[in-house]
Amino acid sequence: MSLPLRSLTPAPPDPILGLTEAFRADTRPQKANLSVGVYVNEAGVTPVIPSVLEAERLLLEKAGSKGYLPIDGRPGYQKVVREMVFGADHEIVTSGRCATAQTPGGTGALRVAADFLLQTGASRTIWLSEPTWPNHPQLFSMAGFVIRTYPYLDGSGRQVDVSRLLGALRSAVPGDVVLLQGSCHNPSGVDPDPETWAAIGEIIVERELVPIVDFAYQGFGFGLREDADWLAGLARPGLEFLVCSSFSKNFALYNERVGALTIVAADAARVAAALTHLKVAIRSNYSNPPAHGGDIVETILSRPELRSRWEVDLAGMRDRILGNRKILVEALIAAGVPGNWEPIAHQRGMFALLGLSNEQVRRLRDEFGVYVVGKGRINVAGITAANLDHAVSSIKAVIED
Ligand code: LMR
Repeated sequence: MSLPLRSLTPAPPDPILGLTEAFRADTRPQKANLSVGVYVNEAGVTPVIPSVLEAERLLLEKAGSKGYLPIDGRPGYQKVVREMVFGADHEIVTSGRCATAQTPGGTGALRVAADFLLQTGASRTIWLSEPTWPNHPQLFSMAGFVIRTYPYLDGSGRQVDVSRLLGALRSAVPGDVVLLQGSCHNPSGVDPDPETWAAIGEIIVERELVPIVDFAYQGFGFGLREDADWLAGLARPGLEFLVCSSFSKNFALYNERVGALTIVAADAARVAAALTHLKVAIRSNYSNPPAHGGDIVETILSRPELRSRWEVDLAGMRDRILGNRKILVEALIAAGVPGNWEPIAHQRGMFALLGLSNEQVRRLRDEFGVYVVGKGRINVAGITAANLDHAVSSIKAVIED
């Protein structure tokens, strides 16, 4: 008996991770990987940041155990994570109306969120921003959701189209799920301002929608608390929502797969009940989370000195990306590349959306060895002195032709 494959046609490569595979196989000397959202330093290396090295040293000295973690991870980890997400003094934390589960990365958190929602009777419709991270539609549709989209950017591609965004959310049906990116929108680098977050929160309450906040870049925009503008919009009495955190970027723990799913419910009793269902979703998926990455995050966040060291590491990554934005914009303008580049210098997070056609993206890769994601999303952190000129002249060539 053969496997019940409907077709032996290979699936297309992943629109982001597939590019890194192709980049590695590219033997041309002059090439640039501006695709996957991974921080690199000026030498083109993704370093283990000093606070993580120190936490690993401390963990090694401790007599550990490789026994299973609880289904929802360690209580100490859950505590430091929710305090980081909301702030230790926030009413959501002090009232006990949230519960956090450790997950394998932010993607693991999103998938568990999807399973949890469908398992507990949520609407099968989820609204995603257009554009969004290419794995969002794949992840939620594989979990069983029907995808709808809300317009996110205006015609310039450089600002949130507030009225069309709000208009689309108003057309959602009560119970529909809405995915919102908390900060450093992927792929555009453009975030709603506090007034827009407040308006989004109002519509969510009015239309009885169920928000999931994808908070993969906390601290990569303006700072840990500053990046939580969305919280003021959503922290309303009775409004229940989910938050998916990733520590891949802000702790540079990409291959440790460490993240968290936090459920915020109307009260402590409801969150306790929700957690029982969340544990079923986790147990039936990967049983319980891996320990090492979570132990690093918990060690750092629970020791004031180490936490301060980490905040310096985080600021260093944030500042380099901001500096790269300016360098890139100046280089595009100096080279006379046609386009509206200036706003990119003021955007936040790892990504900028150049607004290229599929053909231009293909030409960048095939003719110039410059790897960018669809629509011309570039990882700004990937720009170095060694690849800047080549990237800019290649972008100019495909835009001008
Ligand atoms: C990205 O968008 O490049 C990152 O979030 C990495 C990934 O998993 O796609």
